[in-house]
Amino acid sequence: MRKPMIAGNWKLNKTIAEAKELSGDLAKCLANFTEVDIVIAPVFTALSAVAETIKDTPIKLAAQNCYPEETGAFTGEVSPLMLKDVGCEYVIIGHSERRQLLEESDAFINQKIIKTLEAGLKPIFCIGETLQERENGEMLDVLTTQIKGGLANLSATHMAELVIAYEPVWAIGTGQTATDEQAQEAHSFIRGLLQGMFTKEVALATRILYGGSVKPGNVDGLMAQDDIDGALVGGASLKADDFIRLVRFEKA
Ligand code: 13P
Repeated sequence: MRKPMIAGNWKLNKTIAEAKELSGDLAKCLANFTEVDIVIAPVFTALSAVAETIKDTPIKLAAQNCYPEETGAFTGEVSPLMLKDVGCEYVIIGHSERRQLLEESDAFINQKIIKTLEAGLKPIFCIGETLQERENGEMLDVLTTQIKGGLANLSATHMAELVIAYEPVWAIGTGQTATDEQAQEAHSFIRGLLQGMFTKEVALATRILYGGSVKPGNVDGLMAQDDIDGALVGGASLKADDFIRLVRFEKA
């Protein structure tokens, strides 16, 4: 059985004080809620403060990025070891905003995934097609390339620690969520790819989150799909009430 996961990607939002307030509200309301894995990903500068606020709760800490080296002359970067040191359990890797704005390649993303796993952290590996790719009929090819590139050289043991997030770029921050059927179709395709690359057991055990305009109004329908195991949420993770409603999604 795949345990559902609801993860909040706070992106470039929240001062330390604001991050403490939001994580404090979540900690209060979700202190005993263990049916779902709850993850929040604040900016680097707020990680330490949020780690303190959520300690002794089931809420887990994630970073939004990392650099694939442990230490050294890499000005401005943060390594998986340092993220572990501050209390992270997860790292979001390969988000479409970084792929697009910073031109991160599948090979670079693969290095980050490997270094993250070596440090004992769990990657939340993001993939997804743009609107143009979908309209050109390239969606399945794009997902295949991203999965094969990002997960190259990984073992079944590695896969047990990794979460995939399917985030169609056209649905991110646009209010235009994929329909339940569109999301299910992509997730089922991704699971098939995992079966081909690894084993049926790996494919069945890997959690695949959906991301892109997930809100209280659409979460229940998405979560009712067979191959959707959770959500990676941007905008709606910035408000405690909305995020709590997502975590407490209604089961079909
Ligand atoms: P929104 O929920 O704001 O569309 O963002 C999704 C996302 O990019 C999460 O990583």
